[in-house]
Amino acid sequence: MSGAPEALDRWEGRPVEEWARRWGVPHVEAYDVIPSTNDHLRVLAESGAAHFTVVTADSQTAGKGRGGKRWESPSGMGLWMSFLVRSESEVPPALVPVLVGLAVTRALERLCPSLRPGIKWPNDIEVEGRKLGGILCERAGPGAVVVGVGLNLHQGIEDFDPGLKERAASMEMAGCRGVSRSKLAGELLSAARALVDPPPALLDERLRQEVRDRDSLIGRAVRAEVGIAGRAMGIAADGALLVEVEGRVQKVRAGGVSALESGGSVRTR
Ligand code: BTN
Repeated sequence: MSGAPEALDRWEGRPVEEWARRWGVPHVEAYDVIPSTNDHLRVLAESGAAHFTVVTADSQTAGKGRGGKRWESPSGMGLWMSFLVRSESEVPPALVPVLVGLAVTRALERLCPSLRPGIKWPNDIEVEGRKLGGILCERAGPGAVVVGVGLNLHQGIEDFDPGLKERAASMEMAGCRGVSRSKLAGELLSAARALVDPPPALLDERLRQEVRDRDSLIGRAVRAEVGIAGRAMGIAADGALLVEVEGRVQKVRAGGVSALESGGSVRTR
């Protein structure tokens, strides 16, 4: 792409100002094609963008996942969106992805009550053992976090790259048809505002229980990239993954983690 991408006046049939009003956020920027909504929002954050500024795109040419991975963001197939979280005090880095994961699962359940989405620490949203979406949180200066959320909506199994066919899912594959990006964005932002506006310093017992109910790793044998293997024991109040290794519970705060046993299956259309 040459030059700066141009923001759209309308998204999903309505003026972007109307989405901002409906979602109760200060500013929405929508793009047809953009390299990465996270990268764009970081630039806006560095020039003072307000808490809960939102950037969304129909497709991304350089969508990013955790650990430098590429995030497939084909046009119109999913929700590719970032929003800015500012807080006066520093929040434990592992906590924001967990809170946003909770917001995503609440939003998905509201739109599709039969769905049982799980949170796979640190940043995956799963359904029946397949990845439905992901969250990428990146610091954008003191007290500012760019939260990127990618959620697959309309793909069939044939739409995913060969390397993802065994592990990816979309809402349609999971039997939830007719969920629009705008409805999902609205539910997600409303759930996110309830949880990270402002972000708590720690998860309280009620939130920990809700996370536990959706934790798709709990009780499973796992291997963490930081070099430990053991049994996942849940998520701590500061968002760290708890792993029991030879009778001692250790906290994993960074890197990814893989489950050593297989998950479930999902309809592939
Ligand atoms: C992951 O699962 O590794 C995280 C994926 C996050 C993808 C979203 S799509 C919107 C935002 N912009 C990006 O470049 N990445 C995030």
